[in-house]
Amino acid sequence: MSTIAYKNGVLQMEDVPLEKIAQKHGTPLYCYSARQLTDNFRAYQTALKDVLPQDTFTVCYACKANGNQAVLHLLGTLGAGADVVSGGEMLRALKAGIPHGKIVFSGVGKTAEEIEAAVKNDILQINVESAPELERISAAAVKAGTKTRVAFRVNPDVDADTHEKITTGRSENKFGIDIKSAPALYRKAKDMAGIAPTGVAVHIGSQLMKLAPFAEAFKRIAALVGELRAQGNDIATVDVGGGLGVPYQGETPPDIKKYVGLIRDIIAPLGVHVVLEPGRSIAADAGVLLARVQYLKEGDNKRFLIVDAGMNDLMRPALYDAYHAILPCVEPAPNAATVKYDVVGPVCETSDTFRTNMELPQTGQGALLAIMTAGAYGASMASTYNTRPLPAEVLVGGAAFDIVRPRQRTEDIVAADVIPAWLS
Ligand code: LLP
Repeated sequence: MSTIAYKNGVLQMEDVPLEKIAQKHGTPLYCYSARQLTDNFRAYQTALKDVLPQDTFTVCYACKANGNQAVLHLLGTLGAGADVVSGGEMLRALKAGIPHGKIVFSGVGKTAEEIEAAVKNDILQINVESAPELERISAAAVKAGTKTRVAFRVNPDVDADTHEKITTGRSENKFGIDIKSAPALYRKAKDMAGIAPTGVAVHIGSQLMKLAPFAEAFKRIAALVGELRAQGNDIATVDVGGGLGVPYQGETPPDIKKYVGLIRDIIAPLGVHVVLEPGRSIAADAGVLLARVQYLKEGDNKRFLIVDAGMNDLMRPALYDAYHAILPCVEPAPNAATVKYDVVGPVCETSDTFRTNMELPQTGQGALLAIMTAGAYGASMASTYNTRPLPAEVLVGGAAFDIVRPRQRTEDIVAADVIPAWLS
């Protein structure tokens, strides 16, 4: 059951009316449901436990989807590890209590400092994405007097059939080591003083709504594991990358049992430890962005609802033309007549538009709107464009709700700039 629904005429998250949270903490405001996060994470755990022995998999939540430490802490208590893509995310995960042995570090551009931190923290594995990165990891490990566990993130050249900007597994994408050159590099890695090669990793893209690309990528990975083993390598782990897509507009995502079935059928027979890195499917529908209508602006042939959230708070519509459902926080009467609105933010760009021609019962200044499915890649991608402070974030649990990140203070943004002495 959804944790966000109308009850007694108002939109609630778990047991709390969203209006109550907005009144207490202001808008724009991200709200996350602890129960939904829990249910979403458990859906993976349960499906996996049904088909794989308990200690043969680790769900490493992709922190980039929503790296709030309250979210990470909650997932950590449920047994999650973390997939991180920067030193900052690694620090967040560790501070939130995720064990170092459950952290994987992905990304094409890890700096020497980030690699040194990963080596020092003795994380589960670094997913290496290029030959020069491998050299850098080895050097850092040798300097630290250790060997670092490294999985090869390979690029299987599979089209994920998702938005072009979030496709990562085609040969023309910057990600991963070309699958054909992986065996030679793996052989080399075995002889590098600081490297303990542990296995392979793959991630072909995000918001996947079909299983076939996963199946194709997994098959190519299984074949690679066979080839690497034939070469005399130990392959202990396979990291299958990000998770399933989510419905933003009533679409039907693949069934989690069928997805896990692919892992059982294609990856598990390899006898490896399986790492998964889902992000969106855990956080997206657990979050909303609350925005208050500031003005109703009647144009010649348009009605604009100008809200106080902007593209800096939720970039997805501007960046990917992404659709997010928008619900009024007061439940419309069942047969209420509707009017067409463009829901827009205050930022000085036309791309700062959440929706055009949206049918809504007549509304106006002061109305509270919930921009749905905003728990993943919402707050984590927010910026201070137009010198707008990063929004506050709240975690709801039953009837309780608390700030998990205070609204950034405008003074702090402004105070950070430095005018050099030589200018004056
Ligand atoms: N692992 C790796 C290596 C990744 O690059 C990603 C996402 C994930 C895991 C998590 O994938 P998920 O389970 O969330 O699909 N900002 C975009 C999404 C970018 C995804 C980048 N990588 C959006 O808002 O749609």
